[in-house]
Amino acid sequence: MFALSAADLHGRTLDCGGGPASFNAEGSALGTRIVSVDPIYAYSAADIEGRIEDTFDAIMSQARARADRFVWTYFADPDALARARRSAMRRFLADYEAGRQVGRYIAGELPSLPFADRSFDLALSSHLLFLYSEHLSLGEHLAGIRELLRVAGEVRIFPLDNLAGERSSHLAPVCDALRLDGLTVEEVKVGYEFQRGAGSMLRVRHGVLGLPQREPTKWPAG
Ligand SMILES: C[S@@+](CC[C@H](N)C(=O)[O-])C[C@H]1O[C@@H](n2cnc3c(N)ncnc32)[C@H](O)[C@@H]1O
Repeated sequence: MFALSAADLHGRTLDCGGGPASFNAEGSALGTRIVSVDPIYAYSAADIEGRIEDTFDAIMSQARARADRFVWTYFADPDALARARRSAMRRFLADYEAGRQVGRYIAGELPSLPFADRSFDLALSSHLLFLYSEHLSLGEHLAGIRELLRVAGEVRIFPLDNLAGERSSHLAPVCDALRLDGLTVEEVKVGYEFQRGAGSMLRVRHGVLGLPQREPTKWPAG
């Protein structure tokens, strides 16, 4: 989704709207420094698991009913998707309580995150902004992305299509506004396309051509 290289994950990474997914668990096991933020992290693992169970079948039947909207290569078919989602959720749930205690899962939400300016080198957000364009206004998108850029040197967002599988109508005005803010904005094709036609991310960096405006954050080893 984010065309991540090992170098991209060298610093501190924020996963915004991390949800019940396994990015933090898997990345932390590899030694990367990832903090995930989501309003659901105010709840216990048992509460989140209960909510997942309540909604899982309905979400999967929607994917089955709209199978033609998806590209079945990364996941061979809807059953493979369901197995992958369950496995990611189990990995998240197994990691969650311990991760919460050491500050890897933090309750919070856009447009106001509980972090100091430039706490992170990179902020990632998947399946929230642009995807939920019918629920979040243009103003909410801009405020959310500017907040991510307050706390991180670079922001990547995936996908750029809405739930109906169309390019988000917020994308062009958001890009224009961010360029006027003096930011470097580019759409980058990535190696993952599940929603048909939604195979690119938005990459936004501080400074002209992405040159940092100040020294990148130095983090102690370990
Ligand atoms: C569809 S899930 C995506 C989870 C994960 N990023 C993924 O790609 O599988 C969207 C997540 O965004 C969270 N969310 C909703 N509103 C948010 C906000 N204003 N700020 C941060 N996260 C939010 C939800 O709680 C949910 O966990």
